[in-house]
Amino acid sequence: MTDPEVDLGTELDLTPVDFAHDASADDTLDRALRPRALADFSGQPEVRERLEILVDAANLRGEPLDHLLFCGPPGLGKTTLAHIVATESGAPLRQTSGPALERPGDLAAILLNLEAGDVLFVDEIHRLPRTVEEILYPAMEDGGVDIVVGKGPTARTVRLDLPPFTLVGATTRAGMLTSPLRDRFGFVARLGFYDPVDLVQIVLRSAHILAVETDADGALEIARRARGTPRIANRLLRRVRDFAAVRAGGHIDAAVASAALELFGVDAVGLDALDRELLTTMIETCDGGPAGLTTLAVLVGEEADTLEDVIEPYLLQQGFLRRTPRGRIVTDIAYRHLGRTPRGAQTRFGV
Ligand SMILES: Nc1ncnc2c1ncn2[C@@H]1O[C@H](COP(=O)(O)OP(=O)(O)OP(=O)(O)O)[C@@H](O)[C@H]1O
Ligand SMILES: [Mg+2]
Repeated sequence: MTDPEVDLGTELDLTPVDFAHDASADDTLDRALRPRALADFSGQPEVRERLEILVDAANLRGEPLDHLLFCGPPGLGKTTLAHIVATESGAPLRQTSGPALERPGDLAAILLNLEAGDVLFVDEIHRLPRTVEEILYPAMEDGGVDIVVGKGPTARTVRLDLPPFTLVGATTRAGMLTSPLRDRFGFVARLGFYDPVDLVQIVLRSAHILAVETDADGALEIARRARGTPRIANRLLRRVRDFAAVRAGGHIDAAVASAALELFGVDAVGLDALDRELLTTMIETCDGGPAGLTTLAVLVGEEADTLEDVIEPYLLQQGFLRRTPRGRIVTDIAYRHLGRTPRGAQTRFGV
C-alpha cells in the first residue's frame, strides 16, 4: 500500500500545541489514586510482564518504545498504563484523543511538534476520523508526514521527517479499529476484568492513600462488588469511606462495606440500579429478548454507546446477558439473580 497524501496546504498550523490539556474526563481523585510505576499496577500479570520487557529492552538500546495499543472496557487502566510507560521510559507524555482531532492538520501539527523520544497518547483512537487516521500510517511506519504544498498543477508532495516517537493508543472498541492502523502497532495489550484478589490490592492501596482504615475483609467486600474494574473499586471505596465516617467511626470492615454498598444500591455481585433496570426492563417489556441495542437504549433512556461500552461488557462476562445474531437475551442466571423464574422453567411448568 502506498502512503496516503493528504492536502494540508491550507490548514497546516505549526504553532506549538497545548499538550497540557488533559482530554480525558478523569477527576482529580482518580488521578491521585493512579499508580505511577509498573510495580504499583496490580493485576493483568501478562500485560505487565510483556510491557516490562518492552520498556527495559528499549531503554537498554536507548531507542523509543515500539507503538503500543491498549484495548479494553472503561476503567481497567489503559490511561494509567500509558502514563506509566512514558514514566518508565523517562519520556514526556503528550496527550490527545480521537474526537479532538477533527482535521488532518490537527494531527500533523501535533506530530511535527514532537521531540525525539516523546510518547504521544491518543485516547479513544477508534474515534479518529479516517482522513486523520491516514496521517498516522506513514508517521508510524516511516517516521514521516506527507503534505501537499500548493494547489492545482503546481501542487507537490513534501515529506516532513518526524523525530523517533512512540504512539500509545487506547480504545474501548478494538473491533472498530481499521486493520491498517491496528497492524502498525508493535504490541497490542488487551485488558480484561480484574480478579477480586487483584482488586483487593488496589482497594488497600487506595485506602492507604486516602488514609482510611480498611481491613482485608472490608477490602474484599468492596472488590467483589466492583465489576472487575479498578475505577469502580475506587469509587465504591469512596462511598464506603463516607458511610464509615458517618456511621462506623471511620473504620471499614466487611459488615460496614456490605451495609454501605447495599445503601448505595450496589448488590452482592456488583450490579447497580441501571444494570438491574436494564435486565428487569428486558424481562418485562421484551420477555427477556432477543432485543436490539437501540431498542434497549430507548427503553432505559441511555445512549447505545454507553450500554455497549460501559454496561454490557460486565453483564456479558458474568453471564447475565448473551449476545445472539438476533439481539441480546437475558439468561436464566439473571432471572434467578433478580429472584424471578427463568423462561425455560416457566414454559415447562406452565407458570
Ligand atoms: N492495575 C491498576 N492498579 C491500580 N489502580 C488502577 C489500575 N488500573 C486502573 N486503576 C485505577 O483506576 C482508575 C481508572 O483507570 P484508567 O483511567 O487508566 O482507565 P481507562 O482504561 O483509561 O478507562 P477509560 O476507558 O474510561 O478511559 C485510575 O485512576 C487508577 O487509579
Ligand atoms: Mg482512559
